[in-house]
Amino acid sequence: MSEIHSDFDTLPHRRGTGSIKWERYPDYIPYWVADMDFVSPACVLEAMHRRVDHGVFGYAHAHAGLVEAVLQYLKEMHQSSATEKDLVHLPGLVPALSLACRAYAKPGDQVMISSPVYYPFFHVAADAGAELIDVPHIRDEVTWRFDWDAMEAAVTPRTRVLILCNPQNPLGRVFSEAEITQLADFCERHDLLLVSDEIHCDLILDPEQQHFSTLRLPEKYHERLITLMAPSKTYNVAGLGYSFAVIQNDEVRRRFLKAKGCTLPEINLLAMVAAEAAYRDGEPWRRELIAYLRKNRDTLADFIRREVPALTIHEHAATYLYWIDCSKLNVPNPCQFFAKEAGVFLTDGGPFGGAQHVRFNFGCPRSHMLAGLHEMRNAVARTLEIS
Ligand SMILES: Cc1ncc(COP(=O)(O)O)c(C=O)c1O
Repeated sequence: MSEIHSDFDTLPHRRGTGSIKWERYPDYIPYWVADMDFVSPACVLEAMHRRVDHGVFGYAHAHAGLVEAVLQYLKEMHQSSATEKDLVHLPGLVPALSLACRAYAKPGDQVMISSPVYYPFFHVAADAGAELIDVPHIRDEVTWRFDWDAMEAAVTPRTRVLILCNPQNPLGRVFSEAEITQLADFCERHDLLLVSDEIHCDLILDPEQQHFSTLRLPEKYHERLITLMAPSKTYNVAGLGYSFAVIQNDEVRRRFLKAKGCTLPEINLLAMVAAEAAYRDGEPWRRELIAYLRKNRDTLADFIRREVPALTIHEHAATYLYWIDCSKLNVPNPCQFFAKEAGVFLTDGGPFGGAQHVRFNFGCPRSHMLAGLHEMRNAVARTLEIS
């Protein structure tokens, strides 16, 4: 593959571009919502320019080039044997979580999740009129884990669906083959549909860790499996809206499509053009991105451990989103504290099931990341001085 050198050090000007991240709270420097302050890879921009130049933007389906690029990506990156019929193309990943719940759970049934987790996980059960069971992750000396005993105690004959986030947002955890297999066994024993959100799976920062996709599970588990992926986080194209489900079992796919009905719009054609280019030609850029993000992650962790010991962080292996425990700060709402006292806007951990936490998005130029961290350090120092 050819050597490219992307510019991750220049902060793009995003105010006035309709960016949620930069315009929703315009008085603060944003380190919250999960998109990156980087320009997408040249291959993506060029493919979109070419398509725009065509000038006709009628309804589009998942064209042959996209299907081929996705299948090739699944085979190479996840050793998947999926074929074209197993793919369901979608205009976003969160709607798929909701559809999966509606396909398998009815009012009175239950959907299981493990918090802290990406906040829509808390809401999709309600779309099916189902009840949510949250069995929080637990921490031992080494890392965050599933609380297997609590899960066994919580599951009931009314539980229908388990939603997994792997790699885990916000914990930055990459689950091992053993853990994913144990989870699949749990689902098999209790007759649950396993819905695996793997949107961050191409953002593994630790070279010694590897994403184990649910697609790699032995075939018998595919009878109750929906795997969800997208290029949106990795290639910074979240605003375009494209994701896909891999559903290898015909009956599961039929139920999922039935739940979809007429609820979703056609997929944006530029999103599919971008996705094809990203999966086909984006790998050299992705590798550079991973190296840059790894250095950001290390710089952030080092800074917090040395300069802001009132904040607690743990190891972090994936995603550009760092989970920070602020309980030692002793403030009622750490997100509001950092907005008011440091002028930086972070993601509030509360809606993720982690009050007293914030999530810092380090998918940005290093100097910009450090500017925010310095403001946070100064705000904490001033507060500790006063108290
Ligand atoms: C785990 C997870 N799933 C889904 C999404 C959003 O997916 P989409 O924008 O395609 O609905 C995010 C965005 O941050 C995420 O972190």
